[in-house]
Amino acid sequence: MTAEEKDRLYIASTYSRFPLRLVRGEGRTVYDAEGKCYLDLASGIGVNIFGYGDKEWTAAVTGQLGALQHASNLYYTDPCIALAEALVLRTGMKKVFFCNSGAEANECAIKAARKWGEEHKGEGYYNIVTLKGGFHGRTLAALAATGQEEYHKDFLPLTPGFITADPEDADGLENALAENKCAAVMLETVQGEGGVIPLSEGYLRAAADIARRHDVLLIVDEVQTGMGRTGAFYSYMRFGLQPDIVTSAKGLGGGLPIGAVLFGGRTADVLTPGTHGSTFGGNPVVTAGALNIVSRLTPEFLAEVSRKGEKLASALTGAKGVKAVTGRGLMLGILAEKPAGEVISALREEGVLVIKAKDKVRLLPPLNITDDEIDFAVRAIKKVCAQ
Ligand SMILES: Cc1ncc(COP(=O)(O)O)c(C=O)c1O
Repeated sequence: MTAEEKDRLYIASTYSRFPLRLVRGEGRTVYDAEGKCYLDLASGIGVNIFGYGDKEWTAAVTGQLGALQHASNLYYTDPCIALAEALVLRTGMKKVFFCNSGAEANECAIKAARKWGEEHKGEGYYNIVTLKGGFHGRTLAALAATGQEEYHKDFLPLTPGFITADPEDADGLENALAENKCAAVMLETVQGEGGVIPLSEGYLRAAADIARRHDVLLIVDEVQTGMGRTGAFYSYMRFGLQPDIVTSAKGLGGGLPIGAVLFGGRTADVLTPGTHGSTFGGNPVVTAGALNIVSRLTPEFLAEVSRKGEKLASALTGAKGVKAVTGRGLMLGILAEKPAGEVISALREEGVLVIKAKDKVRLLPPLNITDDEIDFAVRAIKKVCAQ
C-alpha cells in the first residue's frame, strides 16, 4: 500500500490533503518524499513562523527535552512561568492560562466570560456576541462561536449562548448587546478562515467602545493574527485596543502545540482553583520553545514583517488575473480571476505552497521570509494568475 492508501485506511477522513508527502524542511523550504523542494508560504497554517529547522528554537526545545519533558500542573516549572511573564510584560495583560490549541484557548475564554458575566452582571448574563464570517475552532462551544453555518450543520444542537452580529455594523452590535443579557463580544481583527478579511480600524475601535459602554468583555481571538503575523506582536495592539481576554496559539509554539489565554485586569482572577485545567497546558518543552519565539519578536523584527507584507501585497495588487489583495502584514488573501483551487495547484507545480481561505488564495509565510524568496513567490503567483 502507498502512504496515501494507508492514510485513507487508518486516519479519520476529516482532511482533504494536497497530493504531497512532506519529509523535511530547512529555512522556508520543504521537501517532499520525491526530493522536490517548495517555498512554503503557508507555514503549517501560520505556525512555523521562523521556518523549518530554526537553530535557536530547536536548541531551546531540545535543551528542555533533555532536562524535563513534562511535569503536569501539579508542580511549578520554570519555562511556563517565564513565558507567562514574557507575555504579560509584552502586552500589559495580567495573567495567562496555557492549553494546547486555538480552540481550547477559545473554550477557556468562553468559560471565563460566562463566569465573569454571572459574577459581575448577574444571572443569565452569559451570551457572547460573535461575528458572521468569524472562526474560533472546532470544539463545540468554539464552533457555536464560529459565525459560519457551513461548520455547524451535522453538529446541532449548537451550544447555546452565542449571538451572531454582522461585521462592520456597529449599530447591529450595539443592538445585540442592548437586547440580550451579554457577557462579552468576541472577534478576530482579520477574519482568517473567513477569507482573510481585515476588520476596519473604525469598526474595531467602535466595537471596543460599545463593549465598554455595555460593560461587557472584549475577547480578541489572536490565534491566527497573533505573534507578529500582521506586523504587531498581537494585531489588536496596532489599534490601541485593550481587550479583557486575548487568545493565542499557532505561531506562539513555533511548531509545537500550544494555546494561551491572556487575561486583563477585569478578568485576571475570574478563573479560580478547580474551574479549569489542562494536563499538557504549559508543558515545559513547548513553553521553552515559545519563550524563544516571543523573545525574538522585537520591534525591529515586527517592522520588517510589515515592510515585507507591504512589499508582497503591493507587488501583487493590480497584477494580471488578480482581482484583489486583502489582509495585513504577512497574512494576505489573493482573490484571483480563476478559482483559488486552480491557482493553488498551479503554484505547487511552480514549487510554491499556498493554502485557501474561502474564495481566496491565502499566504501565511514564515515571518523570516527573505526578500529574494518574496521576489520568487511574486514571480510565480503573477505567472500563475496571468495564465
Ligand atoms: C482565529 C482562529 N481561532 C481559532 C482557531 C482554532 O485553532 P486550532 O486549530 O489550534 O484549534 C483557528 C484555526 O485556524 C483560527 O484561525
